[in-house]
Amino acid sequence: MINLIPRPCSAKECGGMVPFSSNTRLTGEFGSIFEPLSQLLPAPVSAGDNQLTFVHDGHIAKEGYHITCTGQDICIAASDAAGAFYGVMTLLQLCAGKDRFEAVEIEDQPRFSHRGFMLDCARHFWSVEKIKQILDIMALLKMNVFHWHLSDDQGWRVEIKRYPLLTQKGSIRKSTPLSLRGYEEHMEPHDNTEYGRGLFYTQQQIRKVVAYARSRFIEIIPEIDMPGHLVSAIACYPELSCTGEVVEVCDRWGVMDNIACCGKEDIYRFARDVIDELCELFPYPYFHIGGDEVPKTRWKKCPHCQAKIRELGLRDEEALQGYFNNVIAGYLKEKGKYTIGWNEILKSEALDHHIIPQWWIPLDDSVREKAWLAGGGKMILSFLPYVYMDHAYAMRPLEKTYSFGPESLGVTEDTNILGIEAPQWTEYIRDEEKLDFNTFARLMAIAEAGWTERNRKDYQDFACRLESMREYFASIGAVIPPAWIYRGESLGSPLPDEQAWAEKTYAAWGDDPYFELKFAGKKTSE
Ligand code: ACM
Ligand code: ZN
Repeated sequence: MINLIPRPCSAKECGGMVPFSSNTRLTGEFGSIFEPLSQLLPAPVSAGDNQLTFVHDGHIAKEGYHITCTGQDICIAASDAAGAFYGVMTLLQLCAGKDRFEAVEIEDQPRFSHRGFMLDCARHFWSVEKIKQILDIMALLKMNVFHWHLSDDQGWRVEIKRYPLLTQKGSIRKSTPLSLRGYEEHMEPHDNTEYGRGLFYTQQQIRKVVAYARSRFIEIIPEIDMPGHLVSAIACYPELSCTGEVVEVCDRWGVMDNIACCGKEDIYRFARDVIDELCELFPYPYFHIGGDEVPKTRWKKCPHCQAKIRELGLRDEEALQGYFNNVIAGYLKEKGKYTIGWNEILKSEALDHHIIPQWWIPLDDSVREKAWLAGGGKMILSFLPYVYMDHAYAMRPLEKTYSFGPESLGVTEDTNILGIEAPQWTEYIRDEEKLDFNTFARLMAIAEAGWTERNRKDYQDFACRLESMREYFASIGAVIPPAWIYRGESLGSPLPDEQAWAEKTYAAWGDDPYFELKFAGKKTSE
């Protein structure tokens, strides 16, 4: 059996073992990848010298590759450096930590060009080391976009030199909501402990992460969510809001009414300034402006917003958000960037066609999304019921995530779909153990959903490969849950009361009974 995730277009075993280790000499085209690759090759145990030759072949699709083995030597043909790199990622998986693999012939290319993962670093902060580990695993899975959610109501996590308060004050909240049990009991238990002081990425760290990702053919898309989900910035610069009142960084989860005022100039200036600094750090063609969950309650009462609506002859508050989106997208376009926003941005008509919606919720029976695609607009798919990673496996089985594709949304053509991206929101993910538990198995499912053609996908086959590769993945830090969780088998033992409530609340709010149970004793005594 050829164990590879994502499953390639075609693969056959040719008999005999081929050494692959740091004793293997890299030669031929795509020389720029040799140095970074040499760091990733397995240590030799008994593998002798052999040769891996890279060949340029313009007939091979973008990011695709063709592996052939002749005797002890290997050839990878590709039309671009990314394809050559992915050929090596395939060899690393075939070796699974050893210094040799069974000779193969493989032809492969991706279904989609955007194969992404989003990490919420605002609700909980993840170290540079953790992000590098995730980037390593993404690369191995041939994923190529890391969407970095850097700000939200509960914390600002990126150094902006022109606005120092964002990280001095905006990164800190007074307390963190702990458990969903509180929702059941109509109270919200907090840990009453300050969170976030010093927890942000410096510009220097970002440069290093960008370089690290780049050598693994991963683009990083920064997201600054605007004009909603911005309380951490409003807490530092109250003039950004409609009322200008002084507020704290949020210490509860949810959708906040306190959004930026798009009737005043302040948010436009702030957005341009932040974009200026971030565009220096992220040398990629995309910038994410959020745009999700923007209640218009305050705008309806705000004299500035109402005056702006009248001045511009806009229909309503949705149109004001549309205006804001277009102004910011125009600014980004001048810098040569495409703007991405969550699909609520489609609520406003006359959205600039340069903007790329990221489809996470259904709006009005998806009429707007389908019309956007029919009109030639591009889109990224992150549909919550399939791909959100923060929810329990009991609520969102791995098989459902694996099955996702445009077809799940009734979209019959791939043409305008850039690809698939799975977000990991971290309100209830407080430590790396749970992050891993909820992330890595799904990352593998998403990698295959984004890469492998629909007719080559098969969940049972995928689950077998996942199981066969469990130890290898664990050895590189990608710990996956026990098979009973992703195979969808019943929990086995009778449900204790604790588990019953956890499942119920988690079905609604999306945490995980496995971990709630584990931490319940600790949490309830806090
Ligand atoms: C989102 O989950 N609010 C994009
Ligand atoms: Zn306003």
